[in-house]
Amino acid sequence: MNTEELKSRFIEKYGEGPVSGYFAPGRVNLIGEHTDYNGGFVFPCALSFGNYVLIRKTDRSTFRFASLNMPFEAELSAGELTKPVGKEWVNYPVGVFAQFLKRGLEFSRGADLLFYGDVPAGAGLSSSAALEVATGVAINDIYGFNLDRLDIVRMSQKAEHEFAGVMCGIMDQFASGMGKKDHAVYLNCDTLDYELVPVLLNGVKIVISNTNSPHKLDSGKYNERVAECQAAVKAISAHKPVTALGELTPEEFFSISDKIEDAVVRARARHVVTEIHRTNEAVSCLKAGDLIRFGQLMNASHTSLKTDYEVTGHELDTMVDEAMKIPGVIGTRMTGGGFGGCTVSLVRDEAVDHFITSVGAAYQEKTGLMPAFYVAEIGDGGKKLF
Ligand code: GLA
Repeated sequence: MNTEELKSRFIEKYGEGPVSGYFAPGRVNLIGEHTDYNGGFVFPCALSFGNYVLIRKTDRSTFRFASLNMPFEAELSAGELTKPVGKEWVNYPVGVFAQFLKRGLEFSRGADLLFYGDVPAGAGLSSSAALEVATGVAINDIYGFNLDRLDIVRMSQKAEHEFAGVMCGIMDQFASGMGKKDHAVYLNCDTLDYELVPVLLNGVKIVISNTNSPHKLDSGKYNERVAECQAAVKAISAHKPVTALGELTPEEFFSISDKIEDAVVRARARHVVTEIHRTNEAVSCLKAGDLIRFGQLMNASHTSLKTDYEVTGHELDTMVDEAMKIPGVIGTRMTGGGFGGCTVSLVRDEAVDHFITSVGAAYQEKTGLMPAFYVAEIGDGGKKLF
């Protein structure tokens, strides 16, 4: 849907008058999975698809929320913006409004909002972060609050914690807020120092394969992994002062890992520590133009997420196994939280069509699910459109 169509849908819904439009993207993570909430490194890119929000301040005191994707609508008073609205999608934008109120920032007038997303929901491409960041960028601008982009990123993450109950790291909101066209974000999730690294893939495409097996981040499995990492830190800290797994090099970790008695917790920590190391190496490889090694690190990342972190499952593993069989695939792995969702693969230009046909057919035969494929375009972070 283009911006003119979005504007006319807004006017159909809320009537004639001025309207502003904002956009924030979803993301695909190239490598560095389940490292963000451990103070590690990640390497995501913002996508060209994401979430749009059209907004107009009104003379009323209430806030109306509607979406072109979801039937549920809400009209809320400012007081009602401080608590979740059942299990509805509006929790994401409402959760962001709540963060402004928590900072003591008052909304002088009410507003009408219309959302439209073109990130496949539940695919692990951060449709929720796109919704949060788009909301934050929009209300920061139209109410003239002048908060930094990093504040919006942090407030969006808080909205996810408090209104969706997912104790996520900062990767998704950061990529959505700070991403740049044709660059990946090399982010230190401990210090939030970051570098935008050009993604120059001569003759190679980033292909996203959607298992269409929805990932359920709110199922509790994600928070369980967060808790397991905290248990690993606790076990290690009895012997060595650490506050996050990201502080340990692989050598340091392996010299002390037997202090973690629980084998499952030990495996979780092993994934995190080795994944951070792989991420740092992968970024150096990309900068040096060594895509072959980059791809090997992606493959190793998937294996670690499958065996040590156990966040893959039949659909994601099938997608990766089938991708590996295609000549011209340089690397392939699950991306995002896991438990369903998408994989990301580096595929040579001339192999992309064959990849989509062959992996698609084999995946469908083995899982009974119809997959979807997108050749990723790396876009900009959240912005005003009009
Ligand atoms: C989800 C979370 C992120 C991150 C990834 C796994 O997308 O929202 O913070 O933890 O999972 O890397």
